Amino acid sequence: MRAVQIVELTGPDSALRLAGLPEPEPSHMLTPGSGVLLDVYAAGVSFPEVLQTRGEYQLKPPLPFVPGSEVGGIVRSAPEGAGLATGDRVAAFCMLGGFAEVAVAPAHLVFALPDELDFAQGAGLVLNYHTAYFALKLRGRLGEGETVLVHGAAGGVGTAALQVAKGLGARTIAVVSSDEKERVARDAGADEVVRSNAAWRDQAKELSGGGVDVVIDPVGGDRFTDSLRSLREEGRLVVVGFTGGSIPEVRVNRLLLNNIEVVGAGWGAYTIGKPELAAEIGAALSDLIDRGFVRPIVGARFPLERAADALELIDGRGATGKVVLDVRGG
Ligand SMILES: NC(=O)c1ccc[n+]([C@@H]2O[C@H](COP(=O)([O-])OP(=O)(O)OC[C@H]3O[C@@H](n4cnc5c(N)ncnc54)[C@H](OP(=O)(O)O)[C@@H]3O)[C@@H](O)[C@H]2O)c1
Repeated sequence: MRAVQIVELTGPDSALRLAGLPEPEPSHMLTPGSGVLLDVYAAGVSFPEVLQTRGEYQLKPPLPFVPGSEVGGIVRSAPEGAGLATGDRVAAFCMLGGFAEVAVAPAHLVFALPDELDFAQGAGLVLNYHTAYFALKLRGRLGEGETVLVHGAAGGVGTAALQVAKGLGARTIAVVSSDEKERVARDAGADEVVRSNAAWRDQAKELSGGGVDVVIDPVGGDRFTDSLRSLREEGRLVVVGFTGGSIPEVRVNRLLLNNIEVVGAGWGAYTIGKPELAAEIGAALSDLIDRGFVRPIVGARFPLERAADALELIDGRGATGKVVLDVRGG
């Protein structure tokens, strides 16, 4: 099969090679001896793969390895009792190995892909949308009628968070850095859009009538303190990632003085080993798809052999929505 490997840890433009490799066995590292074998049509590309090309991600397999955490594809074979059959269209989280024509995923992280969504959208469904639901609802306790501020709102996690928040009955304020990203955030359903280089904290306070209930923060960096200041009493800031580069520190007196919370949301670490929780989130998202709220926004698409260009786009802050590799036609 055709696959893209990381062969050295020198960054996105030089770390990758296209290779001819044997197809994987139907066994996944999370469920040894068992796994769903998939014909991959589209592979999702995300920030962790950029970090993996530099050896900076927590998951550090020995070289060479095939990266790619999620795919849209068709089931070739599934373990008995998995509720999946050969020929099913699915979105799957495989953790590694997705940049290839055939991949393997644990059965509990394979979800039916409804006809409304194509394979590229399927390749953007698990990581970002499961994270968004986990961060907003399960960690941030977002309630109907509340207001949520989303940083990096035109990105993969950001667009997913905007759509899921709307589906949960919340009002959304998007923070973005450019006109193009503002358009993407509005396409994803943002009620209000503010600019990261303007007085977004004051604008958010005004737009929310005194402070937002929840902040979803995949960016971190130096905007963190202003995020805390934009919360209303009992507000929650949910930490999702650090694309801004630096990991912020909290002066906890702010939490005490304003009666606010900082909450961590690490979807993978918490849910990957909990099949019932993965199914619960999958069912909630399936409902949001049926009701028209969840429609992954695919930004750039590249053929498999141009995976390096896809990673560089993300690395250079140029990505919008989900970046996808087309692995097979169809
Ligand atoms: N906690 C979890 O379970 C979990 C799950 C999935 C992903 N993540 C993490 O969430 C983060 C976002 O992932 P994503 O897929 O949404 O990424 P993405 O599509 O590249 O979006 C990230 C956004 O961050 C903003 N940003 C601000 N400063 C940046 C900089 N210096 N470089 C790049 N982007 C910058 C950009 O928006 P503006 O230009 O508008 O500022 C960009 O749109 C990553 O750190 C990822 O590892 C965490």
